[in-house]
Amino acid sequence: MTQPVAASAETCREAGIRLKRGELVAFPTETVYGLGGNACESQAVAAIFAAKGRPAFNPLIVHVADLAMAQTLTVFSDAARVLAARFWPGPLTLVLPRREATGLSDLVSAGLPSVAIRMPAHPVARAILLAAGCPVAAPSANPSGRISPTSAAHVADGLGNRVAMIVDGGPCAVGVESTVLDLSGDSPRVLRPGGVTADEIAAVLGCPVDYAPAPVSGGALLSPGLMTSHYAPGLPVRLNAVEAAPGEALLGFGAVPGATLNLSPNGDTTEAAANLFAMLRALDTCAYRGIAVSPIPVAGLGIAINDRLMRAAAPRPDGQG
Ligand code: TXA
Ligand code: MG
Repeated sequence: MTQPVAASAETCREAGIRLKRGELVAFPTETVYGLGGNACESQAVAAIFAAKGRPAFNPLIVHVADLAMAQTLTVFSDAARVLAARFWPGPLTLVLPRREATGLSDLVSAGLPSVAIRMPAHPVARAILLAAGCPVAAPSANPSGRISPTSAAHVADGLGNRVAMIVDGGPCAVGVESTVLDLSGDSPRVLRPGGVTADEIAAVLGCPVDYAPAPVSGGALLSPGLMTSHYAPGLPVRLNAVEAAPGEALLGFGAVPGATLNLSPNGDTTEAAANLFAMLRALDTCAYRGIAVSPIPVAGLGIAINDRLMRAAAPRPDGQG
């Protein structure tokens, strides 16, 4: 069982060396903790899929330390350059055409002609990526389909026996995953709402941005990785609840009397995003028979929060609760 080690110059360097060597290392980003592996080593990428129990058709995000590395792996359009200048490092992932002969494992993008690429802002992630000196594939560091980790303890809980090293950089400030923006087609499309909103992207590009996340239940998947049931606690989740039913925990938002926990008593969606996954985990115990969640406004980070909550509440493909 791998225990978290505190982030320091030394542990970041060790983490980078282990990644380069092909080992799996979990590390903090500003969004959630990632399960990293050398994106040029198919064995390391395969080990990520195996550790998470993730379907192999689901492509991974490639993390880079700097723009130069991103540009050796993918073809940047004008829009990509403008967005990277404004939002990198930060919680925006760009899906861009993949260059030939980059050394990237084919597994990392599941055979697609595009690559999802991101430069995280967290100083620990940046130090580790610099030390690794190679692109690092890193999905959220949780078993597939379960709640994403926003602390090193969450990672140890879910994957402690599957990683060589867990670097502890404290709780994640953003709390929901990066926005995935597809720039490989004719017009920009948000495939996954996240830390940067479609409105912020549209304002920078000066053109409308389609919002096209995968449907929450049924229908064709726009992005192969956007599964219907996802981010799911063990307990059933009930949305837009005014109060808890008998036996339910109530996850409040705003001034909600009697909430078991409250995402943001002041009704701040940024604070709520930072608390979302940790509070879902805290309520996911046998003390309750379900988790009821207050309505969250569909604005700012509330868009990403509602997306994650709808997936947490979606019917489970295996029929299990
Ligand atoms: O915040 C984050 O993005 C976190 C942290 C660790 O950086 N990472 C993360 O990675 O959430 P991952 O691999 O779990 O998310 C990948 C998402 C999936 O929805 C996947 O379908 C989409 O990005 N994706 C990856 N490559 C793609 C591609 N070539 N085309 C379309 N979608 C892609
Ligand atoms: Mg994930």
